[in-house]
Amino acid sequence: MKVLLLGKNGQVGWELNRSLIALGEIIALDRTQADFSKLKELREIVAQVKPDVIVNAVAYTAVDKAESEAGLAEIINAKAPAVLAQEALKLNALLIHYSTDYVFDGSKDSPYNETDKPCPINVYGQTKLAGEQAIASSGCDYLIFRTSWVYASRGHNFLLSILKLISEKEELGIVSDQIGSPTSARLIAEITSLCINSAIKEKKSATFTSQVFHLTSSNYTSWYGFTEEIISLVKEKTDIKIKLKSLNAIITKEYPTPAKRPINSRLVLDKLEMTYALKVPDWKDVLSLCVEELK
Ligand SMILES: NC(=O)c1ccc[n+]([C@@H]2O[C@H](COP(=O)([O-])OP(=O)(O)OC[C@H]3O[C@@H](n4cnc5c(N)ncnc54)[C@H](OP(=O)(O)O)[C@@H]3O)[C@@H](O)[C@H]2O)c1
Repeated sequence: MKVLLLGKNGQVGWELNRSLIALGEIIALDRTQADFSKLKELREIVAQVKPDVIVNAVAYTAVDKAESEAGLAEIINAKAPAVLAQEALKLNALLIHYSTDYVFDGSKDSPYNETDKPCPINVYGQTKLAGEQAIASSGCDYLIFRTSWVYASRGHNFLLSILKLISEKEELGIVSDQIGSPTSARLIAEITSLCINSAIKEKKSATFTSQVFHLTSSNYTSWYGFTEEIISLVKEKTDIKIKLKSLNAIITKEYPTPAKRPINSRLVLDKLEMTYALKVPDWKDVLSLCVEELK
């Protein structure tokens, strides 16, 4: 089996490049080899490689910058995935794509199901939803995984920002009224690998159905709770020196950003767990493993 992995240097892409290795031949490309802003060339790359599976880990993920770069975000998050979907259809390839909790507005007072109506409140969310819709209407075989609050031991993410801040600052204010599930890129990659394995078997037996799944760690916290847990794990498991003396809970209004964020980012995982007979681990257990790696 031939797998085309796009975005191999992103948080999720980097982990996928490891987790997918047992599936077959992996052709892993970065931005210099497959630039999503060049749609014609992207189409030609897929047509040349002729993969059985396309895994799209590329995205325009700068949520605040997207407010002023909507055109570029739209190309990377919606138009390029549409091209991948059209090429996947021609090749009868499976397309794996990632989306986000930010397709929802966060106003629901309980966790979101896959069947809840999306209503993004920022440009990033709008472009990611447009990407989902382009794939779903293309007629190709696809799995879309909506995830949230992604971190890893490398890349740009909340975990690494907090590690820097707590070793440099004495006081920090962190938002406590946005609720979601911190999710490690490795967990996403490992579950993706299991799902591709099943999907390929289903495609062979003509029982495959394209689906959207919510894929995060289980249970929820706030950015403040996430920070408290990072600090506690750093103290317990690493030699990192902490300068921080005071961690303060603030509310979203006190931390204005160019892009609005949903207050409720909680996603229901039942569909994923039931379909693939999985038990998704608690966010604290996954975070603990990641912090251990930072030693
Ligand atoms: N990060 C989160 O908190 C979060 C939350 C919810 C959902 N998601 C979704 O999860 C998926 C994976 O996200 P991630 O956290 O792994 O993102 P990431 O670390 O920001 O990686 C994004 C990747 O896209 C690549 N890229 C950006 N513009 C490109 C272009 N024009 N051409 C080719 N490659 C380009 C980047 O390349 P460079 O390395 O060269 O910059 C990078 O490798 C995405 O679909 C994202 O929307 C992420």
